[in-house]
Amino acid sequence: MCGIVGAVAERNVQGILLEGLKRLEYRGYDSAGMVVLSEDARLNRQRAAGKVAALQDKLDAAPLVGQLGIAHTRWATHGRPNEQNAHPHQSGESLAVVHNGIIENHEALKAELEGQGYVFTSDTDTEVVAHLLAREFNRSQDLLTALQTAVATLDGAYALAVMHKAQPDIIVGARKGSPLVVGVGVEEAFLASDPLALLQVTDRFIYLHEGDVARLTKGGTIAIYDAAGELQERPVQVFEHGDGAASKDGYRHFMLKEIYEQPQVIAATLEGRLTDRHVLVKSFGIEAEALFKQASQIHIIACGTSYHAGMVARYWLEKYAGVPTQVEVASEYRYRQVVVPEGTLFVTLSQSGETADTLAALRFARERGYIGSLAICNVPGSSLVRESDLTLMTQAGPEIGVASTKAFTTQLVALMLLTLSLGRMRGMDETCQARIVQALRTLPGMIGQVLALDSEIEALSMAFAEKHHALFLGRGAHFPIALEGALKLKEISYIHAEAYPAGELKHGPLALVDSEMPVISVAPNDELLEKLKSNLQEVRARGGELYVFADEQVRLEEAEGVRVLRLPHIDEALAPILYTLPLQLLSYHVAVLKGTDVDQPRNLAKSVTVE
Ligand code: G6P
Repeated sequence: MCGIVGAVAERNVQGILLEGLKRLEYRGYDSAGMVVLSEDARLNRQRAAGKVAALQDKLDAAPLVGQLGIAHTRWATHGRPNEQNAHPHQSGESLAVVHNGIIENHEALKAELEGQGYVFTSDTDTEVVAHLLAREFNRSQDLLTALQTAVATLDGAYALAVMHKAQPDIIVGARKGSPLVVGVGVEEAFLASDPLALLQVTDRFIYLHEGDVARLTKGGTIAIYDAAGELQERPVQVFEHGDGAASKDGYRHFMLKEIYEQPQVIAATLEGRLTDRHVLVKSFGIEAEALFKQASQIHIIACGTSYHAGMVARYWLEKYAGVPTQVEVASEYRYRQVVVPEGTLFVTLSQSGETADTLAALRFARERGYIGSLAICNVPGSSLVRESDLTLMTQAGPEIGVASTKAFTTQLVALMLLTLSLGRMRGMDETCQARIVQALRTLPGMIGQVLALDSEIEALSMAFAEKHHALFLGRGAHFPIALEGALKLKEISYIHAEAYPAGELKHGPLALVDSEMPVISVAPNDELLEKLKSNLQEVRARGGELYVFADEQVRLEEAEGVRVLRLPHIDEALAPILYTLPLQLLSYHVAVLKGTDVDQPRNLAKSVTVE
């Protein structure tokens, strides 16, 4: 979603802000802007519709010079993505603000402020914050006080960075419902919605808590106040993923780089969490054992790709651990009357840990009598991690491509660790546990073998580039993998794709099957294979073209209209992880052939921090 960068330094900040925006562009990217305070205390602003490159062109022509500045990449919520609606927004020539999130009471505030003579020039909800802050500044003559007073009247979600020309030494920021971190430099300080934006200047961060307000002063002094206005000491944390994430390392796209990183990041997610025969339950935190013992049911809540990981986990948790499990998308869950059986553990899955609906679901769940909450997440220090009782971090490293790949497969690995931990406590067969543990150890190598099929999958992708629709089929735990395959294809190639449990084919989607509708199926060597084969016959009989990703041991021959790509044989329990890879590669190559923006597909954002 939108991105924020701010800097207070003893050097020119334009370069720092621009680099920060480029690094944030993956979050949301329909317009961008920057304000820098000049030496003669004027707010100089440049804004541009489109990508950060458009802003850069303007800055090349007319650079902004100064030691204090704020900048923003926008993903439109209120108002079209044009220059007028791009951030920073100003109140007159004195105050500038950048904002992530949505101000829900902006209409009422706007009416009030217009009544007081403030003139609005954009269609955004953010502009009310600029005028509100200007009004409060006129009263207190202090930007921190103005921000503390103003945020008390805001409903909704926000991360804010603000500057005023009358206080040329400070930037202030606040967060509620949207992430904001303070970057700690040497005699300089920064603000950003994501640490990645600042890794070129620091690896030390303070993760602001909900309701925090921060003041960053020239010379690098940082003061943080909680929602009650009390000065707080927040820990400084070192960002441990290194800065490699910001570069494509010679790959054409971040998505391809991230697909190829899967052997390493899966190995990292397993590291220190397995013995030869089982999973170390302490991986989930010291209180995990007690909580897991009490857990007689599980509710899993997530969005997007993470939701698909949850759907796979349901098959695993019920089959191997015998724990009744429900999975639901967060945006539905949070608004319904949920019945929570006694002894239910609440589990959230999120790459970013900042997805607004997932976070809201966690907060909603807190009042519903769960025995506790577990977050499986990829971003240390994120809101979800901080607010959950237990956490298991996936070690995917920063994921830049909007279409999630390595975050998904590491989530699946983490969910298998959860399954085995719970299974062990419920008397799961020891041999089966040990077998899956051994399979997990060989998984990174097997994924490497699937990556070696890349050129074959690329060749296959040519058949899809001209198609308008595609149907994905799977059974059992591979139904969610089919869903994930369809999601990847639509996200980055804009081909309409649907997924069905193969057994449902004859209840409707079969009507769509003809030679123009490629049908992609995942056929691991599992107990449902024979049933799946019958479903594939149903497609062939209607002239549908079949593309089957199948276990090398499966007897399934290529024929006219049937392409079979063989995958190495893998333990049935882990097949959903392995079969994700060819579907990721297929979507990637189709998108490249279609010439779409693979890493930043239209209308989508990496981290959806608004409802
Ligand atoms: C957005 C992203 C998806 C992601 C979903 C959930 O829609 O584009 O790739 O799966 O959010 O994000 P989370 O960070 O909660 O996993």
